[in-house]
Amino acid sequence: SSSGSKEKEKTLAMIKPDGLLGNYTERIKDVIVDYGFSILREITTQLDQDSASRFYAEHSSKRFFPSLIKYMTSGPVLVMVLEKENAIADWRTLIGPTDAIRAMCGQDLEKNCVHGSDSRLSAQREISFFFEDVSSGERITTHDEL
Ligand code: PPS
Repeated sequence: SSSGSKEKEKTLAMIKPDGLLGNYTERIKDVIVDYGFSILREITTQLDQDSASRFYAEHSSKRFFPSLIKYMTSGPVLVMVLEKENAIADWRTLIGPTDAIRAMCGQDLEKNCVHGSDSRLSAQREISFFFEDVSSGERITTHDEL
């Protein structure tokens, strides 16, 4: 059915070796449940060369493929089936893009390093919170005397 439907959807989530090594599992699961996902299945497993290569088959011609396979076979992974409305897109949003800024410098929900407006209305409000007139599109840098 169309996007925005209320039907439940399932998606696959995987905590990679560094996530397991860093003991992030319980924190990640708390976030998953807080966002309304149900964890329908979970398995901790060690991918071997063959299974990792088949899982990431679509990336087999990429330059990073050997490194990806080496990494993904370097330790156990936790694989989950998550269910909720719009689960596929919502999980991608929740984890952030591959090279997310928050992944680079965020520490936790509070110290998450960067802010972004969440709608047109709040973008307008938040821009005028700090700046008077941005209509010219001119690049101006100022510094408060803190
Ligand atoms: S692409 O090229 O846009 O399809 O790549 P992307 O969707 O960003 O990433 C696909 C998966 O490959 C992993 N990846 C990498 N691994 C190692 N080295 C480099 N440079 C690299 N770039 C991307 C990335 O983590 C993605 O893994 P999954 O498990 O799908 O998130």
